[in-house]
Amino acid sequence: MTLSWSCQCHDGKARAGTLHTAHGEVQTPVFMPVGTAGTVKGMTADAVRSTGASIVLGNTYHLMLRPGAERVAKLGGLHRMMDWHGPILTDSGGFQVMSLSQLRKLDKDGVTFQSHINGERFRVTPERSIEIQHLLDADITMCFDECTPFPATHEVAAKSMRLSMDWAARSRAAFVERPGYGLFGIQQGSVFEDLRAESARALREIGFEGYALGGLAVGEGQEEMFRVLDFAVPMLPEEKPRYLMGVGTPSDLIGAVSRGVDMFDCVIPTRSGRTGRAYTSRGVINIRNARHAESLAPLDPDCDCPACTKHSIGYLHHLFKAGEMLGPILLTWHNIRYYQALMARLRQAILENRFAAEAEAIQAGWAKTEE
Ligand code: GUN
Ligand code: ZN
Repeated sequence: MTLSWSCQCHDGKARAGTLHTAHGEVQTPVFMPVGTAGTVKGMTADAVRSTGASIVLGNTYHLMLRPGAERVAKLGGLHRMMDWHGPILTDSGGFQVMSLSQLRKLDKDGVTFQSHINGERFRVTPERSIEIQHLLDADITMCFDECTPFPATHEVAAKSMRLSMDWAARSRAAFVERPGYGLFGIQQGSVFEDLRAESARALREIGFEGYALGGLAVGEGQEEMFRVLDFAVPMLPEEKPRYLMGVGTPSDLIGAVSRGVDMFDCVIPTRSGRTGRAYTSRGVINIRNARHAESLAPLDPDCDCPACTKHSIGYLHHLFKAGEMLGPILLTWHNIRYYQALMARLRQAILENRFAAEAEAIQAGWAKTEE
């Protein structure tokens, strides 16, 4: 059997389910920490596991450039390399090629680009992207697509979406089915309801183990993203997992779960952790702010991570001011733990049919800090 998802419970549009993969089970809704280059930056795999994370994301684009997909395979695949023996989802590269590479040229067949690391030339097609994701041994492979830039006219968005649907069919044909492994389609169509519908129809016709929403959180703002989710999510098959790519803040996650999304990934908790921003039950804290210099309080009194249980805000502030590497490590750890605890709380609330009240209680807590 390919990768599957079973739904335990609905509460409104929100769902609690379980993904069954080759490397184990994942309870949804789920947040996947980003391990772009074969590491969740600053964290050992044991540390990532200890936060409650059950699946991590890897990037085709970065790993194909360095160390190279064939070399990852020689090193035993991404799981062995990272010492992460749970499930891994890999993004397909299209999004990162367009945002990171130099001199990229897109045609009907694929993308040619120069590495942002050393200028070396590469070509990725849907077939090569899927082959790379197989070499990485991804449990969940993503279709090769174009993330339509925002804003886009209806005409540009339609053309881009139709290209991605052609690539989705080619991705499906190139994907080698194995027990516990699966391929996800990616809906595009920008903010246009008719294009989202056309994209969903095309993907359903091909058939996937899961369905992602792409082309969102690209500058449209939360209100507009929620407006699109209101019509776009119900277009995707009810009985399959739904994944909102590249999202988001805790508030984005709550809003998207309430609209029927099951899976998320985002660099926010890890990137913010490295720059001194902590997401807590009381709201966002900027650890470098001078008012934390002599505080003995924990970063988040409701958190059980090492940053919060072993150290004071004053010490964490000092680590950042002194440029010590432990500062970014501890804040990354905290932020990932915060995201995992948040998703676990939402899941439990769905199972107990009190999602709306729980979401409100969580959001009320954020008002307690002024940063
Ligand atoms: N990450 C964030 N948005 C997207 C998208 O539209 N496509 C892909 N492949 N990755 C993404
Ligand atoms: Zn913490």
